[in-house]
Amino acid sequence: MIEKINPALRNKAIEYWSDFQFIFKTLYPNSEERDLLDIIETINTAYLNRKDSLKEIDKKRELVKDWHLDQKWVATMLYVDLYAGNIKEMENHLTYLRELGINYVHLMPLLEPREGQADGGYAVKNFRKVNAKLGSNDDLIALIDKMHAEDQIIAIDFVMNHTAKEHEWAQSILKGESRFKNYYYLYPNRSIPDQYERTLPEVFPDFAPGNFTYQEEINQWVWTTFNEYQWDLNYSEPKVFNAMLGEMLFLANLGVDILRLDAVPFLWKKMGTNCQNQEEAVMLLVAYKYLIQLVAPGVLFKSEAIVAPNDIIRYLGAGGYEGKACEIGYNATLMNHLWHAIACENTMLLRTTLSKLPPIPPSSTWINYIRCHDDIGWGISDQNAADVGQNGHETRMFCSAFYTGQWKNSFAQGYNFQIDKSNGESRISGSTAALIGIQKSFIENKKEDLAHAINRFKLLHGVIFFLRGIPLVYAGDEIGHLNNFDYLKDTEKREDNRWLHRPVMDWNKAKLRNELGTVENVLFNIIANFSKRRKETQCLHGNAKETIISLKCNTIFCVEKSLKEENLLLVANFSCDFQLITKLELPEKWQGKSFKEVISSTSYLYQGDTLIIPPYGILWLKEITEKVSHLKAYRLKMEVQTVPGESVYFIENVSTASIDEKIRNITCYWVDDLGWHVDLNLVQGEWLSYHWVKMYGNTLIEKSKDFYYHAM
Ligand code: GLC
Repeated sequence: MIEKINPALRNKAIEYWSDFQFIFKTLYPNSEERDLLDIIETINTAYLNRKDSLKEIDKKRELVKDWHLDQKWVATMLYVDLYAGNIKEMENHLTYLRELGINYVHLMPLLEPREGQADGGYAVKNFRKVNAKLGSNDDLIALIDKMHAEDQIIAIDFVMNHTAKEHEWAQSILKGESRFKNYYYLYPNRSIPDQYERTLPEVFPDFAPGNFTYQEEINQWVWTTFNEYQWDLNYSEPKVFNAMLGEMLFLANLGVDILRLDAVPFLWKKMGTNCQNQEEAVMLLVAYKYLIQLVAPGVLFKSEAIVAPNDIIRYLGAGGYEGKACEIGYNATLMNHLWHAIACENTMLLRTTLSKLPPIPPSSTWINYIRCHDDIGWGISDQNAADVGQNGHETRMFCSAFYTGQWKNSFAQGYNFQIDKSNGESRISGSTAALIGIQKSFIENKKEDLAHAINRFKLLHGVIFFLRGIPLVYAGDEIGHLNNFDYLKDTEKREDNRWLHRPVMDWNKAKLRNELGTVENVLFNIIANFSKRRKETQCLHGNAKETIISLKCNTIFCVEKSLKEENLLLVANFSCDFQLITKLELPEKWQGKSFKEVISSTSYLYQGDTLIIPPYGILWLKEITEKVSHLKAYRLKMEVQTVPGESVYFIENVSTASIDEKIRNITCYWVDDLGWHVDLNLVQGEWLSYHWVKMYGNTLIEKSKDFYYHAM
């Protein structure tokens, strides 16, 4: 069968096809040869349609497989219409994003949605067409090209769990045709739906109760986990797998770098379960990953799985599929535990939960975020709460009470979203500024409270810019968007209070970022500075080792990072009092040092034997070492002849001739008329031995003799 795959993909197919087939057969034991042939046809077509420029990007990324772990990436997410009006206009805002240091932009759903209510675009009518209100496919391609030219990357949603009821597949069924009848879950009466409902939770109990919707036209019940107009696709049908593969590859071929796979926990249904996080849902992503690695290996998957801590990481491949599922995942666990910690001025639950999580695969990373377009769900497990002497239910109830301002001394002004009637627990809507206390301090005109609120803003962002993952700043947070009630005037949005924190970008407010002393100026600079410091700090690369340090003081969150020779220490005080750490509490390597505080770029010292951390203070401490101060940048020329398509790699150590991390980490670059070069930071006066390796794709073409270099 493999011989049917385009010859250009043959070598790679040898690597992936049998693994793919195995997983496909496990998912679809009754599938036929025809199903696999259809898949081959889909990948061959997509490969032929993939532009050469994208194939070039694929090639580069295959050589530096961990490119997404680089600390240089800083992300945002935004709705094109609310931010810029349309896709063409987005170009005018790239400079603003650059000012913030943002180079990874997630454009919220932008494919043709159904008319009327569309769950913010998550009800897609046509996966192959950009929403005409935002522009055309060509506009999107032009924007992507422009962004790529400036080393910016783009993510878009692939809403893979469901389609809009107006999608042609669903419409065909509603017309009584049979061609797509297995594409969705349809039932002639309530018998099976009722059996499922016994164990199914509700995602939107307030405005979309139940998981099935009656369709009068065909006298059938259809599975609708979310809204009644979002029909769940039936992934137990191999034809759906192939059809959605075609849609996925079509989007990949527009040039997007990352596909955000929406609502992945719901992809596989099993009677008697909650139909979330089934093993098969992960396997589906693994199967798709094999195929995308074949056709568009430069494209990454980002999972949107806002579920319990131990389930979230399964979509990153933890637990058997390391390196084979999604490369990126939303770190909802960190997000909601940070909000919990800052509400109760206690980091025990945060520390315990993070420490207990199995490590994520080395090739994966997180999107670390404080806020996004959705509500905040309190994904705090009963067990983790019990481990710190708390009751899970009470803790989650506390969080909701606190963030809706119902708790004494609460600084937050959020709103309940979807109350679970069985236990009273709820999720929360509201903008960062409203939840962190900026809004309340404005309303009450309390300067001191505003200062605390800004420090909390800095603290939470300082943590997400530090920890393993790509930090994401929700668009508008950098200028302190408050809760916005315009959505109440819009009949399509008024039922859903998540629109409170999805306002039109306030560009007048954004202008205030340039006026000293304004809140906008302070918040904007906090983010821009974190981006800058992060990019300069090698130790924040995703490959660094991360260790949570348990200090006696439970309001302090302390994490150590180590990469090669460099160490970095995060010290974050989640209370609004001064806190002290004595030297002896810290690992030995931190005890006798004077530090550089990276965020403020100043030196930091023990006061006697104590580190003093101000209210909501955050420090990124780095040891001051002699070596660092003598580093100088050098550019070395490689004496090597190449033909087009070949690449050159610099290897610092003669013993590392095999294709290992070093080969991938130090990539040479081509300068016209001058040849291949590499940039290095070296200690003056030091000798360096190295060689170069010439590659064509994954094939080693030539390896140099050893060279020596004296850094003068
Ligand atoms: C995801 C989206 C959310 C949407 C849901 C259904 O969770 O983030 O906004 O409502 O999927 O598509």
